Amino acid sequence: MVLESLARIVKVQLPAYLKRLPVPESVSGFVRLTVSEWLRLLPFLGVLALLGYLAVRPFLPKKKQQKDSLINLKIQKENPKVVNEINIEDLCLTKAYCRCWRSKTFPVCDGSHNKHNELTGDNVGPLILKKKEV
Ligand code: FES
Repeated sequence: MVLESLARIVKVQLPAYLKRLPVPESVSGFVRLTVSEWLRLLPFLGVLALLGYLAVRPFLPKKKQQKDSLINLKIQKENPKVVNEINIEDLCLTKAYCRCWRSKTFPVCDGSHNKHNELTGDNVGPLILKKKEV
């Protein structure tokens, strides 16, 4: 039943529809089309444009951007808010703290911001705290 209907559309109705389309013989013929001819042609051109776009889309360069707008994708998601405390006395001479939320050793930077920047075109980096040497 479904295949019969599909076969009828492909073998009978589609060719009849295409035969009735006012497709000009040359590019300049498009200029001479009337408004009603354009209105009949537009859905067909729209479908052609859509099919063309769908055909080339896999080959188009992909935009480098994040898939969502969340900043924190996986760190302590079970908590309503991620808060880290660091005692000043515990600081060694230099410590880099993550600001990209991609570090596997959060809140300490592990260099994951480099991959994030490469993938997204972002420019984030760590907060580096330095203790004056005495
Ligand atoms: Fe996040 Fe370095 S890993 S800033």
